[in-house]
Amino acid sequence: MLAQPDRSSILTDLGRYTDIVRLKSGRPLTVRFIEQKDADGLMAYFRGLSRQSRYNRLMGAVSELPPSELDKTLHVGEGSRFAVIAEMRVDSADTIVGEARYSYNTDTQTTEFGLSIGDEWQGQGIGSAILSNLECRAAALGALRLFGETFRNNEQMIGLARKAGYTFGGMASDWRQVRFEKPLYRATDIPCESWKQAATAGWLRNEALLAAH
Ligand SMILES: CC(C)(COP(=O)(O)OP(=O)(O)OC[C@H]1O[C@@H](n2cnc3c(N)ncnc32)[C@H](O)[C@@H]1OP(=O)(O)O)[C@@H](O)C(=O)NCCC(=O)NCCS
Repeated sequence: MLAQPDRSSILTDLGRYTDIVRLKSGRPLTVRFIEQKDADGLMAYFRGLSRQSRYNRLMGAVSELPPSELDKTLHVGEGSRFAVIAEMRVDSADTIVGEARYSYNTDTQTTEFGLSIGDEWQGQGIGSAILSNLECRAAALGALRLFGETFRNNEQMIGLARKAGYTFGGMASDWRQVRFEKPLYRATDIPCESWKQAATAGWLRNEALLAAH
């Protein structure tokens, strides 16, 4: 029987889990765990989102990421909650173009996620790229399914999830929302550093995933 992942080790040396993902345009996108030094940049990113995007992402009419949420976001790994940012080089500077958070539930072996892409970067395949990366990161934690919830009228998120092979149904936590989920047995189309490290350490318990490599 394979050993349980030592998830506490993920709290150190976060840079080890950085992924460089190629967008369909060929541009590289860096997906990495959020660190304390990113706090100001992340707050500015959320403030810069359109009202509609912020509403869809934070599930309410708020002008910025609430401090309690920022605090949780910055403590990557605590309570099996994780947060990543996606960056691109713009005018020689690393610029946050998207973010995602996900949390792993050991009892149900599921991972829940939410994500956003900055308005000026939407529609360029960045959401798809991050979602693939999240699937791999979730699989590395031992998740058998990845799921999310969004407002029923959020056509962008529903379109993204549908295109990525998610099925809709199940009970969402709120009647205004729809739940979508996907089994992770084919989640390794785009390998990620988290997955490679989990595989090397013998953490992975999902045999279908192991067979894929
Ligand atoms: C939802 C969101 C993450 C999608 O990211 P994105 O980078 O714009 O998505 P992509 O460019 O990767 O698009 C992937 C697919 O999603 C679908 N999609 C994207 N925008 C769409 C829209 N306006 N209407 C319908 N489908 C859409 C399409 O199928 C698209 O594939 P295609 O380009 O080949 O047609 C982004 O729009 C966003 O951040 N919205 C605000 C926050 C939010 O709603 N978050 C979800 C909370 S869980």
